[in-house]
Amino acid sequence: HGTSKINGQGHLEIGGCDTSKLAETFGTPLYIMDEALIRQRAREYMEAFRASGLTFQVAYASKAFCVQAMCRIADEEGLSLDVVSDGELHTALTAGFPTERIHFHGNNKTPEEIEMALDAQIGCFVVDNFVELKLLNAMAGERSSKVNVLLRITPGVEAHTHEFISTGQTDSKFGFDLGNGAAYTAMEEAKALENLNILGVHSHIGSQIFEVDGFKMAVDKVAGFAIDVRDRLGLTFEVINLGGGFGIRYTAEDTPLQMSQYVGAIADSVKQTFESAGYPVPEIWIEPGRSMVGDAGTTLYTVGTYKEIPGVNKYIAVDGGMTDNIRPALYGSKYEAILANRANEAATEKVTVAGKACESGDKILWDLEIPKAETGDLLAVSCTGAYNYAMASNYNRIRRPAVVFVADGQADVVVKRESHQDIVVNDVIPARLAKKVE
Ligand code: LLP
Repeated sequence: HGTSKINGQGHLEIGGCDTSKLAETFGTPLYIMDEALIRQRAREYMEAFRASGLTFQVAYASKAFCVQAMCRIADEEGLSLDVVSDGELHTALTAGFPTERIHFHGNNKTPEEIEMALDAQIGCFVVDNFVELKLLNAMAGERSSKVNVLLRITPGVEAHTHEFISTGQTDSKFGFDLGNGAAYTAMEEAKALENLNILGVHSHIGSQIFEVDGFKMAVDKVAGFAIDVRDRLGLTFEVINLGGGFGIRYTAEDTPLQMSQYVGAIADSVKQTFESAGYPVPEIWIEPGRSMVGDAGTTLYTVGTYKEIPGVNKYIAVDGGMTDNIRPALYGSKYEAILANRANEAATEKVTVAGKACESGDKILWDLEIPKAETGDLLAVSCTGAYNYAMASNYNRIRRPAVVFVADGQADVVVKRESHQDIVVNDVIPARLAKKVE
């Protein structure tokens, strides 16, 4: 997919770059991002919305993969940006991302984070709870400014992959519950707070969703709420944010829709629902994370050791693992992989791919069918662009890999590989523990 192909030497090539050369130049493990594919996904979303005729914003949910170079691409493609912490906000600001297109999320924004976002004059706060509502109003008041807000509501729709359910009252740490009236009370309170400019509401129903029914159900609930709020409070929503969650194909088991299908269904449903209620069709915002960058990423590892437990299992171990991809260990997530330097060879065995961390659960693939791997072979795991680098850790003090963007035969480092010095950079040895020199 994307710009990936197998070249004349039987090597995996991405963005016109031979992965064997990338390994030589940058070392492994290495995150490789197909820049053209990221841009293609961004354009698919933007074009589908343009075709719908609705006013819209596509906010990239930066939590999926937040580095300065990615913020530059998001800006160049005309996306908005969803940030959820001071760290993501700082990344965006230092990358020169237009502040009016930044949306700030989170269920526990600290006063320091709110201050930073107010200083930057970001475009919108997605307010999550009553504590934040009052705090934000007070802090905006101190600088006599009025801030744009969406109120995050919990619509009572939950969707994961193939299933979506209407949950009635939802037990969620996020947002104001619609079912128990908290969402209405929040609107009433927000309306009375003079430093908040209420744009509308936000709802996010889950992640890695393959069907449009959950989104349609959310549109229904949000529209019902909008009408109720207009009738009882005289407040008309300008914006409806429907969150992210659009699924991608990690393995053959996954059957996502095209971006244009998700957007088309959402746009139709919004138009129909609001028009039939005689309500001015609001601006629609969405927040895709995974589907913007997930399939653009490939992780390249070097195979080190391997072992066979006769009649039980075969293991190959790679030079990374749960520290650069926690998803298999955390969620049991499935991936596909090939030997990047022997991409034309037929599979001859079934193996479990283990990482190098001191933990039995450090595995990234099960039942992988590949040619017999030798020490020094390169293993390429696909679809690692979202929630991999973003969730990487230094467990075992393993250094986090470099990230390169590849396009048109050029590879650029966008995150340097951590050094040994980086590993101890924040360590402090108190004087009383200093090593005594005789
Ligand atoms: N908007 C909100 C409010 C969200 O909470 C999320 C994801 C998104 C947008 C983006 O959702 P996406 O389009 O990426 O599905 N670490 C997990 C995923 C956690 C998603 C959390 N929120 C994973 O690796 O699967």
